[in-house]
Amino acid sequence: MKILAIETSCDETALAILEAEGGLRAPRFKILENLVSSQIAIHRPYGGVVPNLAKREHLKNLPILFQKLSPKPYTLNPDVIAVTVGPGLEPALWTGIVFAEQLSKKLKTKNLKLKTIGVNHLNGHLYSFLLTEKVNSHQLSVKSLFPAIALIVSGGHTVLLKMESLTKMKKLGETRDDAVGEAFDKVARLLELPYPGGPEIERIAREGNPRAIAFPRPMLHAKNYDFSFSGLKTSVLYYLRDQRLTTNNQRLKTKSSYLRPATDGQVKLEADISASFQAAAIDVLVAKTERAAREFKAKSIMLSGGVAANSALREKLSVVSRKLSVNFFAPRMSLNTDNAAIIGAAGYIACLCKERLPLSADGNLNL
Ligand code: KG4
Ligand code: ZN
Repeated sequence: MKILAIETSCDETALAILEAEGGLRAPRFKILENLVSSQIAIHRPYGGVVPNLAKREHLKNLPILFQKLSPKPYTLNPDVIAVTVGPGLEPALWTGIVFAEQLSKKLKTKNLKLKTIGVNHLNGHLYSFLLTEKVNSHQLSVKSLFPAIALIVSGGHTVLLKMESLTKMKKLGETRDDAVGEAFDKVARLLELPYPGGPEIERIAREGNPRAIAFPRPMLHAKNYDFSFSGLKTSVLYYLRDQRLTTNNQRLKTKSSYLRPATDGQVKLEADISASFQAAAIDVLVAKTERAAREFKAKSIMLSGGVAANSALREKLSVVSRKLSVNFFAPRMSLNTDNAAIIGAAGYIACLCKERLPLSADGNLNL
């Protein structure tokens, strides 16, 4: 089955073409194209994604990306068009849906059986493990991976799931307030680092001491699998405020460029704050994932979503997985942040399950 996938839920315009085969027992994918046009530079001056700018850019970029695919013969005859319908920014989601519908009308003249299906963006992240080499090359059979614990960590979501099989799953917990990626972005803003904050915090944290500041580990000991990151972000805010008050910290007061070379202990402080915040957030994610893996005797742990690009998180979960002797999946970097290949993979699973989401944007769509 040839799938043309479209992703426009946030600030990446993405198109992909995949060949999928093998059914639910042994799904296998060949990514023929995976094009992403990032809008980060456009939103950066605003410190976050501006929905109407995102919409404008998607409208501009979708035909350009499609043009890049078009000369190839396989672009012209997909069996399925898979498009993200939510969650995300509704004006942005609509651009992808309308583009999919227009394309479908045009391509249907060549292929009457062409189907257009809606995909849940979170399923895209969830099923991204199917695109990893280990699964895709059939080194491991899909059946042998379950039960599994899946942790989806992105800018909008933090969800822990128990997967009984590829299609049977239960949500164990989720964030009660901010998503973990949102917390990274907000803390970065407090430190006047550019958007998106996750990669910036990670970069600066490498120079810092993760034990320098004892930030709280929210809900670490709560007997459930929920998360909360808004209090952690507030602790960073208070800590910064106290530092500004108690020290004559000119850099934190007047900071205009985070790239200013370290001339004193102030850059070190920023690195310590980043490292200590990151450690607190990761500790909670890892502890709850480990507890779930033990409780449900998981055979695998799957990490996905934009925050899965964080090497410290990947490393800690991989250590836990080795300790528990379970498989660990974290897709390669380009498949963690938003892209259309993962939407194509989720689209294939949706087709096999005959799941039908309406072709209508739903900003709050959940799992
Ligand atoms: O999955 P994604 O691309 O978009 C959503 O579906 O939300 O995730 C974006 C989020 C942003 O909050 C970004 O700061 C975070 O992922 N992120 C990171 C890293 N790279 C991206 N967070 C921590 N460390 C990173 N290296
Ligand atoms: Zn995402």
